[in-house]
Amino acid sequence: MTTPQLHSEIAAAAARLKAGGTVAFPTETVYGLGADISNPTAVRRIFEIKKRPSDHPLIVHMAGSSCLPRWARHVPEQAWRLAEHFWPGPLTLILPRSPCVPENVTGGQDTVGLRVPDHPVALALLGALGPERALAAPSANRFGRISPTTAAHVREELGEAVDMILDGGPCRVGLESTIVGFEGETAIILRPGGIPLAALAEVLNGKVVVAEGAKRTTRVPGSLSSHYAPLTPLGLVSQESIGHQFGSLVLKGLRVALIGWSDQHFPPDIGKNEKVVYFSMPAEPEGYGRQLYAALRQLDQQGFDFLLVETPPDETGWVAIRDRLQRASCISDFKFQIDENDSVRG
Ligand code: TXA
Ligand code: MG
Repeated sequence: MTTPQLHSEIAAAAARLKAGGTVAFPTETVYGLGADISNPTAVRRIFEIKKRPSDHPLIVHMAGSSCLPRWARHVPEQAWRLAEHFWPGPLTLILPRSPCVPENVTGGQDTVGLRVPDHPVALALLGALGPERALAAPSANRFGRISPTTAAHVREELGEAVDMILDGGPCRVGLESTIVGFEGETAIILRPGGIPLAALAEVLNGKVVVAEGAKRTTRVPGSLSSHYAPLTPLGLVSQESIGHQFGSLVLKGLRVALIGWSDQHFPPDIGKNEKVVYFSMPAEPEGYGRQLYAALRQLDQQGFDFLLVETPPDETGWVAIRDRLQRASCISDFKFQIDENDSVRG
């Protein structure tokens, strides 16, 4: 799976990490910014590079579920079930932290987020580090911005700040992992992500709770409403009102990118207006999720005044995508207004 060159880069990356460096590496979800959890200077460097507040916990990446007892002091039966079923894969389990996990990694929490990524480069890197070590790795972007799904995104955003970037191609999932916490044996979804809710429910015999409000926002910074945002104002608008909203923006002379998935709803002559671009997204959630962040980054660089996104279907398969778009948006249907000064921010 890995070429000889990549193989030697992985060995060099493992050496850098063991020496206290930081290495960005691919996972199946998004690229991570990795540091050895046992090295406090390296972990501090992650917070500095990302400009992330130090009380926001990091996810710990490990080579396999057999490492779980080293990093978690208690593993509920349902957590084992999920680990055995979905790892390696886009699932993070929040479990009581073992004394082997330093407090600076978990932002002072008594719990730790653990995951086994499903990417050959990430697994080879973790394998090269050995079972005694694990990698703290948040998404390799500045705090609050869009997660990177290619090595080029990491290079653009973090550049020289990171010691090394491993290129494993574009990420297969494209959205961050699903985060699951536990209250006793009840699994609670703290962040929807790469594992569909239906798949989780099936493994847990239907016993899945999705956290609401405060529970999400206090302990999961990925749940802050300003997260995952492009620099260009983004509005999330229903199929019914998108034509109207779009028309008002264009009448104001604004350059607008329209991001849709149901092409038939858009006027056929849309391409004739030079101020407008229509960006067509896949009409199924896997493809849409894979492309979303790259699309937002690309459109962010094209000098639009506004990104108008057609709300994806209200179906369980689209939950993670709807969640990220809501967090990226400054305006949604019900409070959409353009004030007298042409300000389009909500
Ligand atoms: O797919 C992913 O999860 C990617 C790749 C690189 O693995 N990582 C990622 O990390 O998205 P980050 O740091 O950008 O987001 C991690 C989320 C944060 O919202 C954090 O609060 C939450 O995980 N988290 C980590 N440890 C936690 C804990 N002990 N309790 C509650 N939330 C936790
Ligand atoms: Mg992140």
